[in-house]
Amino acid sequence: MPITRRELIRNSSLLAAAGGSALAADTKAPPAAASAAGMNPPPPHLLADLADYERAAPTRMSEVAWNYFSGGAADEHTLRWNQEAYVRLRLRPRVLTDVSDLDLGVQLFGRRHPFPILLAPCAYHKLAHPEGEAASARGAAAAGATLVVSTSATTTLEEVSAATPEPKWFQLYVQPDRRFTEGLVRRAEAAGYETLVVTVDTPVLGPRHRETRTPFAMPPGMDRANLRGLVAATGGHRPTEQTIYSAMLDPKLTWKEITWLRSLTKRPFLLKGILNADDAARAIDHGADGLIVSNHGGRNLDTVPATIDALPEVAARVGGRVPVLVDGGVRRGTDVLKALALGASAVLIGRPYLHGLAVGGAEGVARVVGLLKREFAMAMALTGRRTVAEIDGSVIWR
Ligand SMILES: Cc1cc2nc3c(=O)[nH]c(=O)nc-3n(C[C@H](O)[C@H](O)[C@H](O)COP(=O)(O)O)c2cc1C
Repeated sequence: MPITRRELIRNSSLLAAAGGSALAADTKAPPAAASAAGMNPPPPHLLADLADYERAAPTRMSEVAWNYFSGGAADEHTLRWNQEAYVRLRLRPRVLTDVSDLDLGVQLFGRRHPFPILLAPCAYHKLAHPEGEAASARGAAAAGATLVVSTSATTTLEEVSAATPEPKWFQLYVQPDRRFTEGLVRRAEAAGYETLVVTVDTPVLGPRHRETRTPFAMPPGMDRANLRGLVAATGGHRPTEQTIYSAMLDPKLTWKEITWLRSLTKRPFLLKGILNADDAARAIDHGADGLIVSNHGGRNLDTVPATIDALPEVAARVGGRVPVLVDGGVRRGTDVLKALALGASAVLIGRPYLHGLAVGGAEGVARVVGLLKREFAMAMALTGRRTVAEIDGSVIWR
């Protein structure tokens, strides 16, 4: 579950009981907000799962940053449902299958991934750690996972690319300035990004009230580095109360632009933010090589279903023509297993690796991915599945 400030303070005694301040070894001193709450998080090696990282993360950043990362839209129903829906699904194990040699690998868009977990595009990594997206890229590479780098990164896509030679994907927010948008696609190709992921679920931002209550503002010296040259590079992140539109998003986007974008690149081309099976079918008709079922981590339209509830319908309509990935609320190895059982080729995580980044920089990102991967391997072994191909609908208890 997402953690509120009140819970955070309640949890502080638990964290303090675990003792130590070894976190100081790999990141700066805790920000004032966390010190005021009396937080004293345990050393990273005692953080056992993604929930532990979620509890430790707010001690490593300002309250403004925490509210930006953790918040969702409106009443945050969808934000909660994303996780709750996984918990509602029960598993049907199979015994005596010799699970001494597991293969977690998957083939996606011409490349083998050692396990089916990627890192979703998220904005503003420097709010979590001074090394920002470069540290995330190194952490992802160390863990063997692919990072999808956001248009709204606080580090240029070229600098992130230079941080590690491991493959990365680029996420595109189409800009109202189409020439600039085309330039972004060209830059991403030139910098070696393997795959273009176009986010289509954000013509406007959702009502993120946490960002009003602790007003969000980009700290001095930080910008949307990829958008330099546009007013959106440093302009307000949120629309004013007089409008719903944001300088960094294009509300005019339609399928016509998808056809145009598709024509710009020969690289694999994915649409992110698909929930509706009709849109999934249209996306394939418009040349998409893959889809990401996503509700933007519950940050845009509240009361849309949890992504794991939307996935089966989309997967059924796609019928295996292209890979379908899913993100939102994945926190356990059993969640990865359930997503694959219901038709996903792979999952992405968002907030959990930002928590890892805040707690321990690149190392923290790698550790979060490693913990989730290990839980996934255990879930496979305990349900009697040796390969990802063996994970089908029969692993869900109906
Ligand atoms: C702080 C934050 C920033 C995000 N920024 C972007 C972004 O720049 N582009 C995008 O396509 N999605 C963005 N997302 C959505 C994520 O890609 C992903 O869909 C979501 O985080 C998955 O849910 P999870 O956080 O529960 O794992 C963002 C999410 C968060 C939490």
